[in-house]
Amino acid sequence: ATLKVDASPQSARKIPETLFGIFFEEINHAGAGGIWAELVSNRGFEAGGPHTPSNIDPWSIIGDDSSVFVATDRTSCFSRNIVALRMEVLCDDCPTGGVGIYNPGFWGMNIEDGKAYNLVMYVKSAETTDLAVSLTSSDGLQNLASAAITVSGTSNWTKVEQKLVAKGTNRTSRLQITTNKKGVVWFDQVSLMPEDTYKGHGFRTELISMLSDLKPRFLRFPGGCFVEGDWLRNAFRWRESIGPWEERPGHFGDVWHYWTDDGLGYYEFLQLAEDLDAAPIWVFNNGVSHNDEVDTAAIAPFVKDVLDSLEFARGSANSTWGSVRAAMGHPEPFPVKYVAIGNEDCGKKFYRGNYLKFYNAIRQAYPDIQMISNCDGSSRPLDHPADLYDFHVYTDSKTLFNMRNTFDRTSRSGPKAFVSEYAVWRSDAGRGSLLASLAEAAFLTGLEMNSDIVHMASYAPLFVNDNDRTWNPDAIVFNSWQHYGTPSYWMQTLFRESSGAMIHPITVSSSYSGSLAASAITWQDSENSFLRVKVVNFGSDAVSLTISTSGLQASVNALGSTSTVLTSGNVMDENSFSNPTKVAPVKSELSNAAEEMQVTLAPHSFSAFD
Ligand code: AHR
Repeated sequence: ATLKVDASPQSARKIPETLFGIFFEEINHAGAGGIWAELVSNRGFEAGGPHTPSNIDPWSIIGDDSSVFVATDRTSCFSRNIVALRMEVLCDDCPTGGVGIYNPGFWGMNIEDGKAYNLVMYVKSAETTDLAVSLTSSDGLQNLASAAITVSGTSNWTKVEQKLVAKGTNRTSRLQITTNKKGVVWFDQVSLMPEDTYKGHGFRTELISMLSDLKPRFLRFPGGCFVEGDWLRNAFRWRESIGPWEERPGHFGDVWHYWTDDGLGYYEFLQLAEDLDAAPIWVFNNGVSHNDEVDTAAIAPFVKDVLDSLEFARGSANSTWGSVRAAMGHPEPFPVKYVAIGNEDCGKKFYRGNYLKFYNAIRQAYPDIQMISNCDGSSRPLDHPADLYDFHVYTDSKTLFNMRNTFDRTSRSGPKAFVSEYAVWRSDAGRGSLLASLAEAAFLTGLEMNSDIVHMASYAPLFVNDNDRTWNPDAIVFNSWQHYGTPSYWMQTLFRESSGAMIHPITVSSSYSGSLAASAITWQDSENSFLRVKVVNFGSDAVSLTISTSGLQASVNALGSTSTVLTSGNVMDENSFSNPTKVAPVKSELSNAAEEMQVTLAPHSFSAFD
């Protein structure tokens, strides 16, 4: 087989700087119990709903019916999340260790030796009370950190802040609050955050490092279906997710079936985009959920709400909403240049009508913001104005491999494509197989080749907490203390240099061409320019390939310095906590830089030659 690369500058085209980025959705506990480092689950006791008594899960009681009575009531000092926990201690002579409550976090808290954890909680007691707060093993027997707290008797709520430094490691710990004193104590907004978070901004460092290694050029957030909701009343609302964390109501994400306290809110997403040096792409609800819709005649307040969100991000620190952002610690605006008007709502009754209301209002207020339609413009022109259109694909590996030419047939004029969700799914995807990643790589080479009209692409979903595998596969798998990238994650690392690179024409002649996919780019690191040829061998035979290059400029390094290969013994191989890099790129140094080089492509493999 032969692969010819025309590396001459005249025939090269620049790939958009934005081509590869990430899409974060609050799904699979990706945020709550995921990248957001809060260790307490249901910290405000709101997850059981506003009607009391309510389910306090996963909080539990230490003690029995004769020693303690615990119930929610509506006495919080925070009017937007009014539910608090009332604990009545009944025992005169309480058991050793006291009675109280504990929270196991999200399937156990990862408490590590020597690390500090900041506890904040709101407490009220008519009489002065002594409390013990501690971090323990899941059975309460191993004490990792503890502190004694005296709450003065008053009718007002008191904010308690206590640093706890662990003197041992336990991956499935819990937070306990106990007392020996008879009487009544109320609790609300109990938070435990590790002191050490990514850039001090509240994110789990090791998970965000996985993202920053992808060098994402954009961050699409916060969903997906999470933005829509099964019902509008449960959709993500930016306004409810900003300001002091204690005052955020939280909400039940009804599509993915869990509560989030919205500690990871609109502001935090914008901060994350900034920390990753990625362009924020705000996907907002356009008055459409899976089951109900706002009539276009009544959409005006929703449009106003979105304009306020843009003022929050982009307005000066003196503007109404910009000042709220500034008060949260970010006086400089966040550069929101893209918004998506809804998610997967094109077929809905009021989508187009609502879309135009949002589109016109945003265009007028922020002429530079690029707007993304939910309607697919890849096979026929859109019937409404848009800067980009959304394209989602979840399918089997063979179909996605064959979709590498999809955008070859798309009109070169009109709005650009944003492939904001792609993945091999279901039949042969497993929980992230090599095969899936190979099909995705082939699809991505097609996007590179068509990057005159495909301006952005992101894999989905990004994260899964192994304890809530609602959607498989995903790019990054984690639990309270471990994580690994699936082959699809590693594949994305091999495309990160493409954004902003130059793409070159190639021709492949081979009897295997039906199972090969390839692309060639020139990319730059801080010092040098490199030609890179990427080849996917989707077939089960090894392929001997001659790569010949013409027109290479002297300033660009010829092929032959390194090869990076992603393959494995079995095409359905996956990574796991116990073998996190079973399927991961292996880089080897080469020293045969030449205009013509011979390589062998392993069966079912991806190779990048630099
Ligand atoms: O990525 C999972 C879901 O797939 C997203 O929420 C939705 O946009 C798509 O249907």
